[in-house]
Amino acid sequence: MNAIVARAHNFSAGPAALPEEVLREAQEELLEWRGEGASVLELSHRGKAFMRLAEEAEASLRRLLAVPEDYAVLFLQGGARLHFALIPMNFAAGARADYVLTGYWSEKAFKEGGRISEARVAASSKHSRYVTVPSFSAWDLDPGAAYVHLTPNETIHGVEFHDFPDLGAVPVIADMSSTLLSRPLEVRRYGMIYAGAQKNIGPAGLVLLILRRDLLERCPATLPEILSYRRHAEEGSMLNTPPTFAWYLAGKVFAWIERQGGLEEMERRNRRKAELLYAAIDGSGGFYRNPVEPAFRSWMNVPFILADPSLDELFLREAQAHGLLALKGHRAVGGMRASLYNAVPVAAVEALTDFMGDFARRHG
Ligand SMILES: Cc1ncc(COP(=O)(O)O)c(C=O)c1O
Repeated sequence: MNAIVARAHNFSAGPAALPEEVLREAQEELLEWRGEGASVLELSHRGKAFMRLAEEAEASLRRLLAVPEDYAVLFLQGGARLHFALIPMNFAAGARADYVLTGYWSEKAFKEGGRISEARVAASSKHSRYVTVPSFSAWDLDPGAAYVHLTPNETIHGVEFHDFPDLGAVPVIADMSSTLLSRPLEVRRYGMIYAGAQKNIGPAGLVLLILRRDLLERCPATLPEILSYRRHAEEGSMLNTPPTFAWYLAGKVFAWIERQGGLEEMERRNRRKAELLYAAIDGSGGFYRNPVEPAFRSWMNVPFILADPSLDELFLREAQAHGLLALKGHRAVGGMRASLYNAVPVAAVEALTDFMGDFARRHG
């Protein structure tokens, strides 16, 4: 069996599927990169070759998202969860901060925020078990808050929203770990966007930050340097050794997206994949069910349950045998989940929906 045939359809929520083309490029370059006589893994981040790579990756990301000049782009570490803590440390230590709760991850960000700031719930859909987004009229926003924190795509609950009320001068800080680069985005609506890389960007170990430069003036000078966004920005994300291989792969993913036609093309494919899967779920006569209010269904993470949970194990076993990987739902909600990030082709979703239809016919 050759390597292409052996690769299964991977629906992992993260670390997630990467474009095969990107992996092949990295494979080809693994022993020797750009005439340097060594792998990118073995070279200094301060050397000319890596510095060029870093610039190219940032430029490519800026083109994709049309990032305005007055926004800095940082390539940091710690996973998104480190930033749940760094955000209040940098922008709201001892001050007020608003959080909108729409699922598991926004709740985690809020709890962490509460250790450092006067974190407050401005709106929550917890009462619905996070199957919707609180209606704008119910958002109780504090005009004196240091920021409002949103999670536009809840990876576990499968809830997604990209619209929000006008928040005036209060900066919006958004955890876009599982939606960034899935569609075009108006960066200017946000004070800061951050995203763990291991979904649509690259491998784990890298966190991308896009933030308005004026906000950096708010970072307290008393913060330890390594925790200070201002210091990281001043040093071009090289205050300490960055995750060089993750940065390299992220650059390749950005270039791949550009070659595919950019975020408009990602949007077209992602819409199609989501439509296919939700249609299969909704058209199954109740065999499968997705609980999320249709207007807020995620394009990236689709949780679904089987009406008869005693079939769960069999479903997963048979799916695996059909080359459909990582469909087990998160332990917090159970059931199944298919993550449909950029690197998951439409054909993978077709294979999944064919399997689901067949499974339902045999067991319904
Ligand atoms: C939306 C969101 N935020 C935060 C996290 C936590 O990311 P990390 O494990 O990189 O800290 C995840 C992980 O899946 C996520 O999906």
